[in-house]
Amino acid sequence: MSYKKDFPIFEKHPDLVYLDTGASAQKPKVVIDAVSDFYASDYANIHRGLYELSEKSTALYGQSREAVGRFIGASSDKIIFTRGATESINLLRYVMAGEFEEGDTILVTVMEHHSNFVPWFDLAKEKGLNLKVVELHDGSLGGDDIVDAMDESVKLVCSVHVSNSTGIEIDVEKVCSIAHEFGAKVLVDASQSVVHKKVDVESIGCDFLVFSGHKLYGPTGIGVLYAQDMNGLPPFHFGGDMIKFVEKDNVEYLDGPQRYEAGTPNIAGAVGLKAAIEYLEGIGMEEVERRDGELIEYAESQLQELGFVDLVGKGLRKSAVSFVVQGVHPHDVAQILSDNNIAVRAGHHCTQPLNKALGHTATVRFSFGIYNEKADIDKAVEVLKEVKKLFS
Ligand SMILES: Cc1ncc(COP(=O)(O)O)c(C=O)c1O
Repeated sequence: MSYKKDFPIFEKHPDLVYLDTGASAQKPKVVIDAVSDFYASDYANIHRGLYELSEKSTALYGQSREAVGRFIGASSDKIIFTRGATESINLLRYVMAGEFEEGDTILVTVMEHHSNFVPWFDLAKEKGLNLKVVELHDGSLGGDDIVDAMDESVKLVCSVHVSNSTGIEIDVEKVCSIAHEFGAKVLVDASQSVVHKKVDVESIGCDFLVFSGHKLYGPTGIGVLYAQDMNGLPPFHFGGDMIKFVEKDNVEYLDGPQRYEAGTPNIAGAVGLKAAIEYLEGIGMEEVERRDGELIEYAESQLQELGFVDLVGKGLRKSAVSFVVQGVHPHDVAQILSDNNIAVRAGHHCTQPLNKALGHTATVRFSFGIYNEKADIDKAVEVLKEVKKLFS
């Protein structure tokens, strides 16, 4: 079954081989139509109008929250809409600041995207906390490495689910159970995993989970923070739509997701995200995972067969394959692929600590989406042979 026909971009660019879904996914027609129909037929601001269009718009926004909840196995009152994974993590960084005391530890893995590293680095610096980085052990990161890093001072563990840089999965269920034994909370960055496998917050057992809509075939500017319990944490932004009442000398804030969604949110983004989720549900996440698994395995074997390519990272790859072509800078590889209509990402992938641990400043990444087929990998591999010839 080919899903390429669902994506109008490939009609406009029939020769495009898109291997950069890890950066952002292309959009299926159902998502484009949902956003366009919303603006054409149902648009008004939410939560404020007593007229029909505003009520419809408010209902659509609420339905999107329900769709996100269903998609990750959470009730909708635990879903906070943000601009993306980066904002979700920054929201937590600010509202949780008061939860830490000097000397407490925040644990992050060396595999984090900068967006799940830099906010915690900044908070640790501001509040005199220890930022402890769980390092790779023998090229990979397992449960034992997390156990060894834990102690009673750890109050929060931040772990990526699937690395955007290497495509490798971390056993976050294990991370959560170990962290909880020590009384620490766990934030899971599911930005890459939700796109490729069924993610269920109950079975993972995390306290917080974040992802972006645009990597999940949805629009840009909409993201998710799942919070098992915000437990009265203070608001992030202040303004309209997050208050119970305002008096000259007193303000009371709403509870629930709206407490963290001040101002007019990205309503059309939420509508588009719901359409994206329904698109994936129509295919089935088990099918998505099976297809991706086949592509990854095929890419690994084809690249290894070349004999001049080193795969980067060790472990189970779920979303991407990163590699270096021996003797050729990754940027040159990406440029020549681009000259042949093949879009890949080359560079540090916003994971500089991980790259350093793996001994590379940059890599080339093939990351896959529902529209990719084995023929895409074949085309890219043929170009890699040309690259090698050119630089020999
Ligand atoms: C694992 C991971 N976390 C976080 C992010 C940040 O996502 P965004 O830029 O959509 O906020 C990315 C983006 O590449 C990512 O791959």
